[in-house]
Amino acid sequence: MPLLIKNGRIITSTDDYSADIFAADQTISRIEKVIDLNACPTGTEIIDAAGKYVFPGFIDPHVHVYLPFMGTYAKDTWETASRAAIMGGTTTLIEMICPGKTDEPLAAYELWLSKAKGISACDFTYHMGVTRWDELAERQLREVVKRGIRSFKVFLAYKGALGVDDRELYHALKLARELGVVVTAHCENETLVDERQKELLAAGKTGPEWHEPSRPVEVEAEGVQHLMTFAQMTGAEVYIVHTSCEEAIRAAQSGIARGVRCHIETVIPYLTLDNTYAQKPGFEGAKYVMSPPIREKKHQSFLWDSLRARTVSTVATDHAPFDFETQKTMGRDAFTKIPNGIPSVGNRVDLLYTHGVATGRIDLHTFVDAASTRAARIFGLRGKGTIAIGADADLVVYDPAYRGRISSKTHHMATDYNAYEGWELKGRSEVVMIRGSVMARGGKFVGKMGHGRLVERGGSYE
Ligand code: URP
Ligand code: ZN
Ligand code: ZN
Repeated sequence: MPLLIKNGRIITSTDDYSADIFAADQTISRIEKVIDLNACPTGTEIIDAAGKYVFPGFIDPHVHVYLPFMGTYAKDTWETASRAAIMGGTTTLIEMICPGKTDEPLAAYELWLSKAKGISACDFTYHMGVTRWDELAERQLREVVKRGIRSFKVFLAYKGALGVDDRELYHALKLARELGVVVTAHCENETLVDERQKELLAAGKTGPEWHEPSRPVEVEAEGVQHLMTFAQMTGAEVYIVHTSCEEAIRAAQSGIARGVRCHIETVIPYLTLDNTYAQKPGFEGAKYVMSPPIREKKHQSFLWDSLRARTVSTVATDHAPFDFETQKTMGRDAFTKIPNGIPSVGNRVDLLYTHGVATGRIDLHTFVDAASTRAARIFGLRGKGTIAIGADADLVVYDPAYRGRISSKTHHMATDYNAYEGWELKGRSEVVMIRGSVMARGGKFVGKMGHGRLVERGGSYE
């Protein structure tokens, strides 16, 4: 059904103006100061955006939905995760495909795709995990790229599980350079983590509060520095996922200063939580165990400043949903067995607005850029991340006057807890549209499951 969005204040990463938007056949076809409903086709649905912002649909470039990990599986399905994303204003998700070391890349791609295709309500694409390197893996990775997946994922952490060694890293980066794909990377030195974990456990330090000391900032900075060296030698374009601290950002900046093509992502937990959460009594801290770990509070202001300066390009979630009662508790005797991850796919946009825009830490353009536009550009999501004629009609009518609170009782994620339980929100996505279909309105999901499509991608663009 054609849509007419009237009286809104349109915000993109560069522009701020008032106009009406008309969308038909999934894309935006008119943007004018005033568009008369009488001049629109019969049956056009009108959405009044007076007093509200109109943002491009938000893109989360780092989520896990189907994830076999640490002896269990992430809790969400594409049904729950995509609905939660949409309710929180996110219209496109990029999921990490994380095959085991002996799995075939092509089969993994098909498996991950089968979990979302025909089920997801929002649009989606993937970063293809490279977890081993041999002739067959290389051939299949080339095929996955041919099928439109134009980014890889490597883990420099998780020794013995998903992590790659230096030979595998070198060849993955060389192939990426040849094919023109971006390599996203989890940067932590896995040997240092491994040794620190053993020492802490041997000293009886088994609780969730010891997760951070087992992978301190130096471990992350070393991982980044390592990636920078390999990226410099291969010429590959890289993207550092979930950067948590000043030391890691400085290591990336020093690589960039040497000519490395590198983008920096942070995630909403690092901007809003600090290590005291992992120190909560009664094993509650396990809810806040993710890797790299939530840091000391001082890192938050550095991250906000870096976001404002656009040194940090994107804010994702690294949504990795595990239940507290049955999954996080697997690590009651040893923090090393707590499934790593914090669920937040439904809360990213509102938390970034509430703690970023509403507090004056970042402006509206930086907000849109970090939560939508930049990801579209880095990962070649054509038609996404902006409001322009010909772009996909992925639009969010956002109400800055809304006030509410986060709760696991009302969230749409599948987990039995929310790390932000009781937190106040100043703003909400009032109407969410994906390719011209209204998917959420007034806090209710009104879309169709299966509406989501695998996004067509090109190379990175400016
Ligand atoms: O703790 C995290 N980050 N869990 C998800 C897997 C990953 O490293 O991204
Ligand atoms: Zn990671
Ligand atoms: Zn992740």
